[in-house]
Amino acid sequence: MNPIAARIRDFPTTVFSEFSALAQKHQAVNLGQGFPDFDGPEEICEAAIRAIRDGVNQYAISAGTVVLRQAIAEHAQRFYGQRVDPTTEVVVTSGATEALFDVTLGLVDPGDEVILFEPYYDSYVANVTMAGGTPRYVLLRPPDADHARWWYDPAELEALFNDKTKVIFVNTPHNPTGKIFDRAELEHIAGLCIRHDVLAVTDEVYEHIVFEPSRHLRLATLPGMAERTLTISSGGKSFSFTGWKIGWVIAVPALIDAIQKTHQFVTFAVSGPFQHAIAAALRLPDAYFAGLVQSYREKRDLLVDALTVAGLRPIAPEGSYFAMARIDHLGFADDFEFCRYLTRDIGVAAIPPTAFYVEHHRDHGRGLARFAFCKRDETLLAARDRLAALARR
Ligand SMILES: Cc1ncc(COP(=O)(O)O)c(C=O)c1O
Repeated sequence: MNPIAARIRDFPTTVFSEFSALAQKHQAVNLGQGFPDFDGPEEICEAAIRAIRDGVNQYAISAGTVVLRQAIAEHAQRFYGQRVDPTTEVVVTSGATEALFDVTLGLVDPGDEVILFEPYYDSYVANVTMAGGTPRYVLLRPPDADHARWWYDPAELEALFNDKTKVIFVNTPHNPTGKIFDRAELEHIAGLCIRHDVLAVTDEVYEHIVFEPSRHLRLATLPGMAERTLTISSGGKSFSFTGWKIGWVIAVPALIDAIQKTHQFVTFAVSGPFQHAIAAALRLPDAYFAGLVQSYREKRDLLVDALTVAGLRPIAPEGSYFAMARIDHLGFADDFEFCRYLTRDIGVAAIPPTAFYVEHHRDHGRGLARFAFCKRDETLLAARDRLAALARR
């Protein structure tokens, strides 16, 4: 008897486990995993502590505390002009991770096809597989002589839509490329969803890390898309509290119902005190959000300069806190060999992005490495010093 269920038997161990262990073993500066090595605003910490002291310590309402759902609706209106009914159009989840699971299990039947942009955030494929759906892939390609930004071939995307297509996932700002889907791209995707009666799930966890002149646009706010889009976000990246795991889904009542039905049997409800604190965070003044972007812009520039000096060819991200760099001219067999060398011999950990491509597309990631810059300036400066050894190699 094989004790492991067939549906998860072939799941790989995430690439982060290998590289976190390797980084620790070699005391490398860890620019691999995407979590800040600093805390978010003190007043938001205080809000969580206050909620605990005030007795917000028993099961929260399953759909989310009233104060947080209200704050999520206000935030959607304030930043995107999106009208959201907090009582019927929001479910609060254990991070975007649970939201992605609930959405997939709530919408995808065995045999349904789900379109994913590649490279992808790795939980999408696992979720679709657990739901019995079939992932179909469309490539995001790096900038080249004809394209100034990461791009996809519109014909390649159009060819994937068929009678079995149920959902398309759109992650913008995108991990790991740092791409922001612009208005023309979102309008193209919206047109296909409407024409083929397909749902869209957007993963917008980096919505507040967007560098000018790029702008973050919400697919749900395009004409005809409110009724067929499920918008996912979370507080982890916007407020630098990734460990608090407060996420949410916004959708019209008919769709949110499917998410609530799944959510009630996955976690039922998530941590009350942290919901209170994230409600306060979503209501922070504009200056907070502007400061976050400014700080990340400086970190991005520092990292991009350091990688350039080291002889890599970074692709400056439009958003998120990740930068991909080209490494294919450096003489390594592939991204894994490069990232292992970098971690072990140079003392800086990065992530090999082939982990975010399906087997038969791995060649597209072999010449790249992903670096996270959600780190204190001291950490990034230490990485810069070590990376200089790469140029001397
Ligand atoms: C694209 C993307 N989606 C979702 C998540 C998970 O978000 P959360 O920490 O809110 O579960 C991450 C975290 O790295 C991410 O990069």
